[in-house]
Amino acid sequence: MTARQKSSFPKHFLWGAATAAHQVEGDNHNQWTVWELENAQSKAAQADYHLHDYPTWDKIKAEAKTADNYVSGELGDHYNRYKEDFAFIEKMNMNSYRFSVEWSRIEPSEGSWNSEAIAHYKEYLEELRRRNIEPVVTLLHFTLPVWFAEKGGFEKRSNIRYFVRYAEKIMSELGNSIRFIITINEPEVYGFESYYLQNWPPNKASFFKLWRVSVNQATAHRKAVKALRNLNRRYKIGIAKNSVFFFPGDSAWLSRVSASIFQYFQDDYFIKKYIKHSDFLGVNYYQSQRLLGYRVHNSEKAEYSDVDWMLSPGDIQYALERLYRKYKKPLMVTENGLADADDAHREWWIKETIIGMQKALKDGVDLIGYFHWSLLDNFEWAYGKWPRFGLVAIDYKTGKRTLRPSAAWFGRVIKRLRE
Ligand code: BGC
Repeated sequence: MTARQKSSFPKHFLWGAATAAHQVEGDNHNQWTVWELENAQSKAAQADYHLHDYPTWDKIKAEAKTADNYVSGELGDHYNRYKEDFAFIEKMNMNSYRFSVEWSRIEPSEGSWNSEAIAHYKEYLEELRRRNIEPVVTLLHFTLPVWFAEKGGFEKRSNIRYFVRYAEKIMSELGNSIRFIITINEPEVYGFESYYLQNWPPNKASFFKLWRVSVNQATAHRKAVKALRNLNRRYKIGIAKNSVFFFPGDSAWLSRVSASIFQYFQDDYFIKKYIKHSDFLGVNYYQSQRLLGYRVHNSEKAEYSDVDWMLSPGDIQYALERLYRKYKKPLMVTENGLADADDAHREWWIKETIIGMQKALKDGVDLIGYFHWSLLDNFEWAYGKWPRFGLVAIDYKTGKRTLRPSAAWFGRVIKRLRE
């Protein structure tokens, strides 16, 4: 990075990486655990059908065809080995870390609080503080306690109060030193995957339910924000929103209109429900999509990640600029990264992303932080364990952690950018 580039990030910019409880902790018991055990065999049997045209198929097929791939199980046991993992955050010269607390551990059955789990997350936070790492806490990252799911989860308006009670409880326990809270991670992705695409539990396909869940999650956010502000007025609260940037691939009228419609339903339809009740907007940026006519038609010349997403890191600039122009709230890149087991593209990806963020900052965007997804290799939901998003690689057989070369490079860059 050049000296000019160095000066473009604000002094207190948060440089970090992100994880989510169910994807790294190991040994969870929630709605996902039940779903994984029920579906692992059939997912392994269908892997060939679903994934065979991925460019990485030859590399991934051995893993993707085993039932074990679809069961999170012990993973890398981050729940117990978090100190080891925090050392990597320090090693990369990061000053922040985004993680989620697991509702099903904290309230394993309705209304009963697990003091051991609460004590665990308190120690977890203490450990971050000792290392001068600023926490960004997510309260809900896709996984519901089994009892809450059995009551109908967010399908029912009357269930919102359980989420609000949990938010209030855990923050009153963890509270004082925390500044940044994300109530719900990607509410719209949760809705689509669970109530439309049928990739995730509860595996329903109903437009009506999808709509209800989206309304109820927005209400849950609003009510949780109100409750949390009563606990501490200094909290900065937001959501993390997955944002794909849609652009027309030619100047045809249809391509331009389609890109705006896709963008509206991907972003604005949801953000509108949350933004008034948020201090900042978390942006999870992974990809852009090119529209030709009314269809997504990405370039064949582009590179693709192991999960077959087009790699267009630089377009983060346009995503950030659009969101800031429209909503005028501070933005935080709460996730950004790629599945890249061979670490072939990650360094380039991060470099392009940094340049994209610098351009957005230069154009006046109030950007307050960047969190790479992910700190660790993790359980990638319906894909299971084979996609490797981690700056730190984990060997699930031995638990051994290794900093990937791109991550060592990123650490050196962060050091310079923070000087
Ligand atoms: C989610 C993560 C997920 C990542 C990569 C985001 O949508 O918040 O949980 O692992 O994307 O797919």
